[in-house]
Amino acid sequence: MSADQKRIAVLTGGGDCPGLNAVIRAVVKSAIHTHAIEVVGIEDGFEGLVTRKFRDLTGANVAGILNQGGTILGTSNKINPFAYPVERDGKRGVEDLSSRVVEHFRGAGFDALICIGGDGTLEIARKLIKLGIPLVMVPKTIDNDVRGTDRTFGFDSAVHTATLAIDALHTTADAHRRVMVIEVMGRYAGWIALEAGMAGGGDILLLPEIPFEIENVCRKVNDRHRIEGKRFSIVVVAEGAKPCGGDVVVRKIVADSPDPIRLGGIGNIVGAEIERRTGFETRVTVLGHLQRGGSPTPFDRILATRYGVEAVNLVARQLYEKMVVLKGDEIIAIDIDAALSGPRTIPLDHPLIANARAIGVSFGDR
Ligand code: F6P
Repeated sequence: MSADQKRIAVLTGGGDCPGLNAVIRAVVKSAIHTHAIEVVGIEDGFEGLVTRKFRDLTGANVAGILNQGGTILGTSNKINPFAYPVERDGKRGVEDLSSRVVEHFRGAGFDALICIGGDGTLEIARKLIKLGIPLVMVPKTIDNDVRGTDRTFGFDSAVHTATLAIDALHTTADAHRRVMVIEVMGRYAGWIALEAGMAGGGDILLLPEIPFEIENVCRKVNDRHRIEGKRFSIVVVAEGAKPCGGDVVVRKIVADSPDPIRLGGIGNIVGAEIERRTGFETRVTVLGHLQRGGSPTPFDRILATRYGVEAVNLVARQLYEKMVVLKGDEIIAIDIDAALSGPRTIPLDHPLIANARAIGVSFGDR
């Protein structure tokens, strides 16, 4: 490496999603082919920056990973260097180890850090920028809830998986004259439920953005079966869906996580109530982490590649504190501070909600 050759680090933070490897591959390939920049991978998200787990990434390392799910670098949605889990005298607590991150970053001679992550990673990235680390963000998550971008990569793949699952549930629902409830991920945003629900022909979609009344859900089921003569009903429930005046269902608290609340369980509650109130046999499927695994769709592979290329372009031009985003068909860079934190939920005037209502889909609100 010549003295003036750039050396950049890349990490994947937060929950994984299909397409992470496609970004890593694009970062490495464009760094080598277009900019003669050297790339080093940080292992296991921010954990690797705290504990100095680095490895060089070459063209050979990233060969054949475009279509692979997961991340070759590993990731963690539990590690935050500003509140790092430690054990002292048998007691568990957290400590701010961010100075160690800065020390390791400078010690390795990195010029910039590319962070591929969602909301939690973005918050940590903001704080690292304040400590003087030149940084570019690439937004990822199956939830599609990062503000500032029209789409995160990983979302299309999750919608694809959920749609195939709904297709499969249709045939068995029809055979048995059943109500099928499917709970999908998405945290506090209903993007996966809305898009997979529409693509899979769901009859009732329950979203965090539109609190539901169980009476309305059951009326829709009764009307379909008793009046319209339908053999089955498909109910797609976002894990963050909640009844009017009620709250989300918490599945688990992950104490060390920057975002400790894990949602889940509303599907079973809705399914039990439908069966009790309508008398129709009901089964519940919780799709879970199948939505995060497996090969990315062509759309996600391309989006991830475009993000990776643009992130390196920014680093080469020394344009830091930016996040690459999709606006319409274009990849642009926005200031990280403009990517307001907090989930990007579905606006109630979203055209897909109107389209769904137009074809008789119920959101359980009326
Ligand atoms: O943010 C991605 C996501 O898959 C959410 O949809 C889900 O609520 C959460 O992560 C699950 O987290 P974990 O893998 O820690 O259970």
